Amino acid sequence: MKILVAGGAGYIGSHMVKQLFRADHSVVVLDNLSTGFRELARYSELVVGDLADTALLERLFREHRFDGVMHFAAASLVGESMQDPGKYYRNNVADTLNLLEVMVRHEVKHFIFSSTAATFGEPESVPIDEAHPQRPINPYGASKLMVERMLQDFHAAHGLSSVCLRYFNACGADPEGELGECHDPETHLIPLILQAASGRRENITVFGRDYATEDGTCVRDYIHIEDLCSAHALALEALVSGEKQGALAYNLGNGQGYSVQQVVEAVQQVVAEDDFTLEVKEGDRRAGDPAVLVADATLARRELGWQPQYAELDIIIRHAWAWERRMLR
Ligand code: UFG
Repeated sequence: MKILVAGGAGYIGSHMVKQLFRADHSVVVLDNLSTGFRELARYSELVVGDLADTALLERLFREHRFDGVMHFAAASLVGESMQDPGKYYRNNVADTLNLLEVMVRHEVKHFIFSSTAATFGEPESVPIDEAHPQRPINPYGASKLMVERMLQDFHAAHGLSSVCLRYFNACGADPEGELGECHDPETHLIPLILQAASGRRENITVFGRDYATEDGTCVRDYIHIEDLCSAHALALEALVSGEKQGALAYNLGNGQGYSVQQVVEAVQQVVAEDDFTLEVKEGDRRAGDPAVLVADATLARRELGWQPQYAELDIIIRHAWAWERRMLR
């Protein structure tokens, strides 16, 4: 297949591109490098450009006959989305609309979309399955939900088939150590703890110990980046083969929650093997953090045949730690 990967120079996109390359697909990455890195896009042709640039999109779709599009190019910081909602509605909604309209004009009918657990807002019940109401509590989640809605309408009107994959906590790194997470600023728990261990940052702060959970810290469902990507590959195959049609959505997680405290302890164990330690500080709750977010991903397993390979937190941390140590060099 020939696939356009928007945002293929970012954390999730770059791992996706490597998997596609390994499966002998031909990939074109479109990335504006606002948060991505040229070095991460080493398994494809890289076109540096923006989804807002309709002329560029038209040219790309004229030059290549894409079988499908995977879209990872988005702003994804919840806090920033509260301060600057316009950025989120422009990048994540308007620019995606632009891409979808170009796809329709060029009759490219298969679309895989990075969505998020943030579309569910404060959960009414956990684990969260696809039937759970979607009531986002921040512009980031709202922007992703708007695209989910647009995709239903684009299917009805234009026959564009899509799969929205709603990630819980994406983490880990390429098991071969070539790719990994490098956000700036970094806000995610696992890379932050690892940076505290490696010495790239002074310490890690636990945001709140008074949640209604067993140890008082927030519980999340951590899913290895390789497993996330394998679900995307299966979703695209299901669309392109015609096995699936419509505007579909699946939640992606392991269905297993770990508390912040458990993650800290798991990291401490892994880094201790290399004689590293870290300082843990206590902090207030971070605004907008639900106590527990755990996925019910039964549907993805059943309908896509998805089988996570790296569900254990220990493995996730080991892969991310190998990448963090590489960053030190
Ligand atoms: N945390 C800390 N200290 C830190 C950073 C995080 O204690 O320095 C805690 C958070 O409070 C939270 C947990 O670690 O309880 C995980 O936080 P992350 O920022 O790593 O991830 P989130 O669960 O907040 O965010 C993830 C995705 C978002 C998505 C959100 C859905 O990264 O894109 O889930 O709610 F929007």
